[in-house]
Amino acid sequence: MTSDNHAPSMRPYGSHLLICEHGDCADPEAAAALQQRFRELTQPLGLTKLRNPARVKCTLSGCLGVCAGGPIVVVYPDGIWYHHVDAALLERIVREHLLEGRPVEEHIFHRQSDAPEANEAADYAPDHSGDDADSDPAEPTGGKPGSSPESEARRKAARANRKQKGLLIVNTGNGKGKTTAALGILTRAWGRDMRVGGIQFFKHANANYGELRALERMGVTLTPMGDGWTWTSRDLDETQSKALHGWEAAKERIVSGDYDIFFAR
Ligand code: FES
Repeated sequence: MTSDNHAPSMRPYGSHLLICEHGDCADPEAAAALQQRFRELTQPLGLTKLRNPARVKCTLSGCLGVCAGGPIVVVYPDGIWYHHVDAALLERIVREHLLEGRPVEEHIFHRQSDAPEANEAADYAPDHSGDDADSDPAEPTGGKPGSSPESEARRKAARANRKQKGLLIVNTGNGKGKTTAALGILTRAWGRDMRVGGIQFFKHANANYGELRALERMGVTLTPMGDGWTWTSRDLDETQSKALHGWEAAKERIVSGDYDIFFAR
């Protein structure tokens, strides 16, 4: 990332696929599976490299404004839209459309034309139901033109699933920065009124480090439950049992539902 204001430069894409993962037109997991399949198909051809000469790219996208008949895939710059894309059709799109320049005609439902009047006469009826993604999911949204009960139900299920999903972030590797990165997440979440807390295995029970003091002032409890670093331990059995006790305590708190973000180190 640069800090100046100069516009970046780029070569135009040869082909850029967008796959809708919003959840109204199809299950978001189907979109993720398609992107994975795209990688598998194009990796042997060197098309997954960031600077591949053909400039081919595949990206998961938010709602593309169709909201039915998914998974929806659009190929730019051709402006060619495919419906009900599955693994077999994706293979044809890669082989026939991207590599041989022959779009898979029987699965195209919309073709963006350079002529504006042709685009006005598009033969599909987008319902833009993804536009209100921030509205209350419990609030009924019925009556939208082009929105079917199936797409409403799918949207609600996708939202419910999104809420239920947890996320585990593992900071690993040599060198510094892992704890700092985790504490950054913790403080950002705190700033957004989330419930945060954590356990430190590598800090002994009487630890009084700066980050612990800062978090204490914020009202965040980051309990030190370990025995310090193992290589400074005088009794590894005791160190081990303290770590196990700490992990049991961490597990209890993680599943308690009392935290939005839980830090363990
Ligand atoms: S949800 Fe996929 S196009 Fe709108």
